[in-house]
Amino acid sequence: METILQEWVSLFVRWAHIISAIGWIGSSFYFMWLDSSLKKRKGLPMGTKGDSWSVHGGGFYHVVKYEVAPDEMPEALKWFKWESYSTWLTGFTMMFVTYYWSASGLLIDKSVLDLSEGQAIAASMASLAIAWVFYDQLCKSFLRQWPVAVFAVLFVAIVAASWGFQHVFSARAAWLHTGAIIATMMTGNVFFVIIPNSKVLVADLIAGRTPKAEFGEIAKLRSTHNNYLTLPVILMMISNHYPMTYSHPYAWVMVAMALVIGAVVRIFYNRHEAGVHGFAVQWQWPLVAVMAVGMVAFSMWRPDQKVVAVDPVRAMEIVTTRCAVCHSATPSSDMFEEAPAGVMFDTLEQIRAHSGKMIAQAVLANTMPLGNITEITPEERQILGAWLRDGAPAE
Ligand code: HEC
Repeated sequence: METILQEWVSLFVRWAHIISAIGWIGSSFYFMWLDSSLKKRKGLPMGTKGDSWSVHGGGFYHVVKYEVAPDEMPEALKWFKWESYSTWLTGFTMMFVTYYWSASGLLIDKSVLDLSEGQAIAASMASLAIAWVFYDQLCKSFLRQWPVAVFAVLFVAIVAASWGFQHVFSARAAWLHTGAIIATMMTGNVFFVIIPNSKVLVADLIAGRTPKAEFGEIAKLRSTHNNYLTLPVILMMISNHYPMTYSHPYAWVMVAMALVIGAVVRIFYNRHEAGVHGFAVQWQWPLVAVMAVGMVAFSMWRPDQKVVAVDPVRAMEIVTTRCAVCHSATPSSDMFEEAPAGVMFDTLEQIRAHSGKMIAQAVLANTMPLGNITEITPEERQILGAWLRDGAPAE
């Protein structure tokens, strides 16, 4: 019963999370485009940076951007902030439902670190807070004069964090946490910097003071970080069901690759939208293609996999004792009334039909058995793998 409830909550929260994220990413991409499309023309009001025309849904739009702020407060002002806040809030709820509700299932892998549920949850929450404080201090440090240096340090810090997570959480949770700390930095930027700085501008306007451009500039820098981090984060969030990413013993290398690929794709869009032509918008896609192939090749290099003899008798025994307690038409585990995810291993045909996913979940990754409740050994994973790769022959 609880499992079914958890599944439903998970589905609805996921739905809400994706809806909010679409709103946030959509508005963020729109404003990046808008900024780069601005043109300075004669006849624009004083103190404006430029204007931009667009057509959408059968109507024409004319947008003007101010250098700092207009002379008077407009009557109605739309703040783009709840797109970001709701994405973080629904994301954290998902973290709660998926990883904290039953922490021994997905968050903890006792073969990585023997944590209690409380310790693992505390470590998870602390990592989000620490990541934000570190990043915020980095942006305020003396390095802020060199935005590229800030980016370089941030890149190394994220990769180092993902390496650290691999030594604390299960592989899947480690990968997700890397995405979660980046997403926390991004929402932190909106909540602690971009919106407060914009509020200073508005307060100055109302008080009749000339707002300082500096506040707008700081907000813009954070907003640019968000722009380059968006695509890698999306990959980290959606690849939770693709063990070839997170299950790698050097998953942190793939984190580095994803960060670079995502940023290069954004460079293309930013330049393309600014109307740049020629080589400046031509080098990105070939480079991305090469790096994507590199990522695939890297994922296939698995120094942790051993060659063992095919042993159908032992392999069947492993499936029966380690997997079929849950994955059966009649599960003997009291956690489940039905086979989880509809996946059953009662017959050879069923096993063969799922062999690719079984290898992914239980041989290449330690995601299954759930929380290793049935205590499969590393050696048994290799025996299962050899048998499945051989087509799961009968005894
Ligand atoms: C304690 C119960 C339990 C045991 C034991 C267990 N699983 Fe699972 N399995 C689950 C649950 C729950 C899910 C659904 C997870 C999800 O949707 O994220 C699942 C899902 C799966 C999936 C589908 C994944 C997908 O992406 O569609 C496969 C394949 C799988 N398990 C293989 C195995 C193998 C192989 C074993 C034995 C080595 C095993 N499981 C042992 C509970 C279990």
